[in-house]
Amino acid sequence: MISNESIEQLKSRLDIIDVVSSYIELRKSGANFKAPCPFHDEKSPSFVVSPSKQIYHCFGCGASGDSISFVMDYEKLNYPEAIEKLASQYNFSLQYTQASKQKKHSKLLQKLSEYYQTLLTHNNQALTYLQERGIFESSIEKFELGYAPSSNQTIEFIQKNMFSTAEAVELGAIGQQDTRLYARFIERIIFPIYSVSAHLVGFGGRTISGHQAKYVNSPQTKIFNKSRLLYAYHLAKQSIYAKKEIIIVEGYMDVIMLHQAGFTQAVATLGTALTSEHLPLIRKSDAKVILAYDGDNAGINAAIKASKMLSASGIDGGVVIFKDGLDPADMVHHGKSQELVTLFRHAHPLIEFVIDTIILHYDLKNPKDKERALQEVLSYLKTLSPLLQEEYQIYTASKFGLNPAFVKIAKSGNMNKTDFKSSYKDIWELSIIKTILVHPEFLNQIIEVIDPGQFRFHAQELALAIKGEVKSSILMAVLVDDEIIPFENYEELKKELATFLINYYNKEFNKVQLQQDISFEQKAFKIRKIRDKIAILKKGESNKEN
Ligand code: CTP
Ligand code: MN
Repeated sequence: MISNESIEQLKSRLDIIDVVSSYIELRKSGANFKAPCPFHDEKSPSFVVSPSKQIYHCFGCGASGDSISFVMDYEKLNYPEAIEKLASQYNFSLQYTQASKQKKHSKLLQKLSEYYQTLLTHNNQALTYLQERGIFESSIEKFELGYAPSSNQTIEFIQKNMFSTAEAVELGAIGQQDTRLYARFIERIIFPIYSVSAHLVGFGGRTISGHQAKYVNSPQTKIFNKSRLLYAYHLAKQSIYAKKEIIIVEGYMDVIMLHQAGFTQAVATLGTALTSEHLPLIRKSDAKVILAYDGDNAGINAAIKASKMLSASGIDGGVVIFKDGLDPADMVHHGKSQELVTLFRHAHPLIEFVIDTIILHYDLKNPKDKERALQEVLSYLKTLSPLLQEEYQIYTASKFGLNPAFVKIAKSGNMNKTDFKSSYKDIWELSIIKTILVHPEFLNQIIEVIDPGQFRFHAQELALAIKGEVKSSILMAVLVDDEIIPFENYEELKKELATFLINYYNKEFNKVQLQQDISFEQKAFKIRKIRDKIAILKKGESNKEN
């Protein structure tokens, strides 16, 4: 591993303008630099690089980060790879640390996996099972399939090999209830699960003896995060990049059988939904996503959710839903690989799939239903980029048998608060937020007096700033926006906060006075409380001025 010290040293030598302009041409614009964004297709420059903050942000697609993340995204590298690349560009020699703790951890899992693999080669029942499912011996090797023995045998193996049981518990290989230890995987076929960087981080296990839980997976551990991992990604990566396509399925068996049939770009989620944590990985490859899910309700719902998320994130792709209770593994097993080629090629495009399935839930012959369906489609369309919205208004209109102009009118007529909020900038609120970002040392005093609920327009940004999520895209946007000026010092901030709060409570005061649905006593009580607050604030303010 690269030592943290040398990463810090390298970072301190990097200048974002230098780094970015070695890839794209930057133009000066005020204190910042601008360019057409390299991460999405555009003509006018919404990509801003700030030399004073050493960050970049694209107001078009939301891409943002520092020198290192720029190189990671532009060159499609992981963190250490980007560091190494920058180091060589800057003639900087990195220091490496000796075998890290993480390596030792995966050594335990690695040894256990080897043990499981050996056991499988001697277990006829398990081998027969795999054979009957159509799995080749070469796949058993490629995917390092294994077989977990009884609980005691696994625990004995760990102790005999001088691994600490505490470590095995921490890594999710064994569980602990009070003082009793038990193996997580008992008499199951084992599917080793690797991280993106090809480290063994956990296992999945399938029963072959009709055990109640068909599958068991490692629990969340320091190194095993189900919502971020994709099964077999390390094996599929090259093919994903080469084919510019990633096939996402629901099951381990599906992945193995698809690879056997030549679809080496197949990966699976780990018995969980596709989440936004998977997005960076998917984005990096620039690949089209094919969701290949079962035709049961669970599969269809998962496909809808995933399609909404992917399309809202600007990712291209399509959906294939299998009929007749089949899944990709069955298709390959039944000799239908050629059919799969056609199905994947004609996948239902993500956005159309979402719109079409929404429509399926309504009876368009009924005008009321039709209106509701249209509303649901329109509120989905709003999550897409403006260009796609425009594009799919026409599609939607044709699906509803309406004039496209009508679909458009209905849309702007429908404009709700959130749309307004996303484009409107309240400079006062934003200045307070920027102050937190620039002067984190004021944070404690700020949160004592104010909470996100009191912000009308930028509550979300305030909440993120309080949580310290400085790297989030919307906060980056605040940081590089020169229109937003942070308060200079704590005194100034305090004065602004007091004025802000007085303003807030005055509005609350008016609201309460107009309120109809509470008793006179309640009203009087609320009014008194608000008056007290205002009085305290005003006193604080005048004290300052004296
Ligand atoms: N899964 C799980 N826990 C379960 C069932 C399923 O974690 N109790 C996950 C596993 O990752 C599994 C995937 O969901 O690979 C797909 O489940 P399912 O469709 O039920 O699997 P099948 O295809 O029926 O499994 P198999 O082919 O092994 O019979
Ligand atoms: Mn299945």
